[in-house]
Amino acid sequence: MAAPLDKLFTRELERNDDEIVKISQSEIGDVGCVVWDAAIVLSKYLETRDFEGGKSWMGKKVVELGAGTGVVGLFAASYGADVIITDLPEFVPLMELNIKENTHIISGSAEACTLTWGQDKSTKFDHIDFIIIADCIYYEESLEPLVSTITELSDMETTVLCCYEQRDTGNKPELEKKFFQLIRESFDVSKIPQENQDPHFRSEDIHILKFTKKQIADTT
Ligand SMILES: C[S@@+](CC[C@H](N)C(=O)[O-])C[C@H]1O[C@@H](n2cnc3c(N)ncnc32)[C@H](O)[C@@H]1O
Repeated sequence: MAAPLDKLFTRELERNDDEIVKISQSEIGDVGCVVWDAAIVLSKYLETRDFEGGKSWMGKKVVELGAGTGVVGLFAASYGADVIITDLPEFVPLMELNIKENTHIISGSAEACTLTWGQDKSTKFDHIDFIIIADCIYYEESLEPLVSTITELSDMETTVLCCYEQRDTGNKPELEKKFFQLIRESFDVSKIPQENQDPHFRSEDIHILKFTKKQIADTT
């Protein structure tokens, strides 16, 4: 169901320089209608020393997968990245609204479009510098499609930043295990230490992982 745009409430996320990214969330709709904690942790990581306080996003080509409200992509765009914010078709109006409401703070560019994992491919960039993903290790049925989209969109120079909240209930531990088994088939995986993350917006149960494509061994 598309998020109705007449039942909105706002979440403000402050940058370190006090500029504010304002995100509209919908009272009604699927899980992507609100900003999740992993999205806040990942957004604030984008302006740490690992990214020169945000400066290194300038001109970077970024695709956000399962963006929901689009907050992480908009944070990157506010630091000068060119971002395609993607999700299922029903989220496009909410993402477009959030782009519009943050136009004044976007120093790069932001565009919302549909990208259903395992089906669509964003062909807008020849080469993607960063794929950003917050709290998408969540759905049994779309785990393999998500991994296939990440793999398909990445080249040897792409960095994937994947942030997720570790959950111990239901089938979530198995999903997490399976996701990393699949990812490790094609990617090297490293964990961003807590001390590299934002000192206020981090949590023991929210992890940020970095994936880069494995070098294919030369057998000749
Ligand atoms: C838990 S929400 C996280 C939203 C946002 N990234 C955040 O952290 O605030 C997971 C998102 O994944 C999206 N999603 C689920 N299955 C998908 C699929 N097959 N293709 C594309 N997006 C999907 C949902 O629509 C939702 O926006």
